[in-house]
Amino acid sequence: MGLVWWRLEMAAPAELEESLLWKLPLLGVPRVALQHPPEAPERRQLLAWLPESDWPPDQRQELERALAPLGQPFNLALPPIRWHRQADEDWSLSWKSHWRPDPVGKRLLVLPAWLEVPPEQADRLVIRIDPGSAFGTGSHPTTRLCLEALETLAGERERAGQGPGLQGLRVADLGCGSGILGLAALRLGAATVAAADCDPLAERATRENAALNGLDGAQALTVTTGSAEALSELLAGRGADLLLCNILAPVIEALIPCFPQLLGPGGVGLLSGLLVDQAPGLERDLQAAGWRVEQRVEQDRWGLLRIRSASDVA
Ligand SMILES: C[S@@+](CC[C@H](N)C(=O)[O-])C[C@H]1O[C@@H](n2cnc3c(N)ncnc32)[C@H](O)[C@@H]1O
Repeated sequence: MGLVWWRLEMAAPAELEESLLWKLPLLGVPRVALQHPPEAPERRQLLAWLPESDWPPDQRQELERALAPLGQPFNLALPPIRWHRQADEDWSLSWKSHWRPDPVGKRLLVLPAWLEVPPEQADRLVIRIDPGSAFGTGSHPTTRLCLEALETLAGERERAGQGPGLQGLRVADLGCGSGILGLAALRLGAATVAAADCDPLAERATRENAALNGLDGAQALTVTTGSAEALSELLAGRGADLLLCNILAPVIEALIPCFPQLLGPGGVGLLSGLLVDQAPGLERDLQAAGWRVEQRVEQDRWGLLRIRSASDVA
């Protein structure tokens, strides 16, 4: 007899999507997917597959309890979870079949590890990611805001004769998750990326994703477990040209005093992870600390701020 599975189903509000994709593998549930009806992309549904033998009722209740706090930062209750028992499903096809090549902006393509580049997207810069190993599959609006902002910056540098792309830039990626932002920066021509995340699983995921993209050699990407201090050590005390930081607004706020160690003179910071209504407060704190907000971008309810030192000439 084949394996029997529990299929978990729940509505996935945009705010919680990426946290769920990130948290479930940490709780021992690596087979996760998001799907939506073709006519209603906003009606996202989370699916996960759990072997029945490993997940008796008390374990499943424990899982539900562990997921419940994910809604707290957004004042949301976790939507109800439905469990369906199913036999003999080819799970690898089930969950993997929900992932598609994901074009971002005009130049980038985020590709799950097992898919080939579609011929019609062969001219895009490919970032291969093993989804589920850490936050940063490319589907969350805050990750997309950063990827698009990287592309915008690359375009501006080219128009100013400083390109191609991000050529020559030293990049710092704080809260690197899957490593997706640093890998995109390297694809766009950056010279090096130093990355850090307080979660050791993110360090491992970043290393693995760098290898998947052939970007793990030649000192292109270095990564460590830790926060601003560990990242500053990786940068050997020389601030980067570009700081990427996609973490929730209160965390960014607490990290502002560390930015001068991470960003050198003339450097640009891309800060995301903030809800649109958190932007004015964060801008006030940034200005008070000597940073100028030179660009604001929004997607859904999420925002991105592009900053420079106020002492840099506009
Ligand atoms: C929203 S995810 C971003 C992941 C990826 N950079 C992206 O854009 O998709 C935020 C990441 O920051 C990490 N993080 C949270 N607080 C941090 C801190 N104080 N220092 C370093 N990393 C932190 C989390 O572990 C998580 O991996």
